[in-house]
Amino acid sequence: MNVLLLGSGGREHTLAWKIAQSPLLKTLYWAPGNAAADAMHVRADLDPMDFEAVATFCERHQIDLVVPGPENPLVAGLADFLREKTPSTNLRIAGPNARGAMLEGSKAFAKEFMQRHGIPTAAYREFDAEQLDAALDYLGTIPAPYVLKADGLAAGKGVVILDDLEAARSEIREMLGGKFGDAGKKVVVEAFLKGTEFSVFILTDGQDYVLLPEAKDYKRIGEGDTGLNTGGMGAISPVAFFGGALKQKVLDRIVTPTLEGLQNDGIPYRGFIFFGLIEVDGEPFVIEYNCRLGDPETEAILPRIESDLLPLLDKAARGDMKNASLSTSPQTAATVMIVSGGYPGAYEKGKNITGLQNVSTESLVFHAGTASKGNEVVTNGGRVIAVTGIGNDLPAALKNAYTTVKHIHFEKSGYRKDIGQDLLKRQKT
Ligand code: AMP
Ligand code: GLY
Repeated sequence: MNVLLLGSGGREHTLAWKIAQSPLLKTLYWAPGNAAADAMHVRADLDPMDFEAVATFCERHQIDLVVPGPENPLVAGLADFLREKTPSTNLRIAGPNARGAMLEGSKAFAKEFMQRHGIPTAAYREFDAEQLDAALDYLGTIPAPYVLKADGLAAGKGVVILDDLEAARSEIREMLGGKFGDAGKKVVVEAFLKGTEFSVFILTDGQDYVLLPEAKDYKRIGEGDTGLNTGGMGAISPVAFFGGALKQKVLDRIVTPTLEGLQNDGIPYRGFIFFGLIEVDGEPFVIEYNCRLGDPETEAILPRIESDLLPLLDKAARGDMKNASLSTSPQTAATVMIVSGGYPGAYEKGKNITGLQNVSTESLVFHAGTASKGNEVVTNGGRVIAVTGIGNDLPAALKNAYTTVKHIHFEKSGYRKDIGQDLLKRQKT
């Protein structure tokens, strides 16, 4: 099979690493990719948002399967475009059409979907710019903290949580006034849920699915979950508390009703669904849907998948998941993200990265934001390198991750030293 993988982060390097292990693979093209030097794939100079160029590339290189990593091209309709553009060829796309991707692309759509199908989520109201006064009044009737969400994609910055009523009112004024452009034309105000977040992933053809390993990510920049939100500073898989009753509730009340809801609404869906969940006193609620895998969750979950992922991606893309199954390693994976100084605010790029060869045998190094400069690998993003340690338990996985992390250096690099510590504490109590 010829595969075109789209994206350039740690999630995509991990997908490339996993797909490259498949005996079914002929050539893996990765566009635009990063500096992960790997003889197993061919980098292609292609913008995933340039749909014409992607279609032309697929024709020229006889691509069988496109695997989109990030959400933007899916929300913008890449899968629709390729499915319509090349109806006569055998091209398959492991990602949903724009309507399915609305689960991530519009918070209002996702909330209405969940309400319509009885899927547990925080109570909410939505407002547009015409309803500013109503929104300001509404905030006065609900308890703090106030959770405000721009409706559309806002590069991970569209969710604002505030304790102070006046601050929340001024934020919603700004949001509806255009702070996030079109993404903020509508704003969802939702009840604050207090609990522990975790993430569940499926690969589906819209009817049947395989459950991937679950994960917990660490969003805040600072230790002890403090400071600004980031794209993710680390991830752990498995999540010990996701088992037994909680797992069954997630499958019965969230995963199955989501697939049935898509079917009832006439929305075909082929690809990943990422359920961002929160457990409140033993009950799971959906915080958000994503139409793709998570980053850095992917770096922790794919190393735990024993099955060949490529035929599963192809089955999802073909609509043929009926007898699909996936086997998971009982080992623990712990991912630590090494980031640029200043991230998630302004940071510098182009710093030389050293130590990438000193990888312990029990760890994997994935490039998240890197570029090549001559023979050197340099930083090219806020999140630069994801190191995943593998072990028989969480302490062993963390030890293996941090041993490798300590060998990797670039100017002003940083990482969180407390990844997984909350889960270790929870296991003890
Ligand atoms: P989202 O982009 O929807 O995942 O939101 C970003 C982050 O905001 C989530 O990962 C949560 O930490 C937090 N969050 C979102 N919605 C809520 C909620 N209703 N209650 C508490 N925290 C929330
Ligand atoms: N790590 C969170 C995400 O990928 O959305």
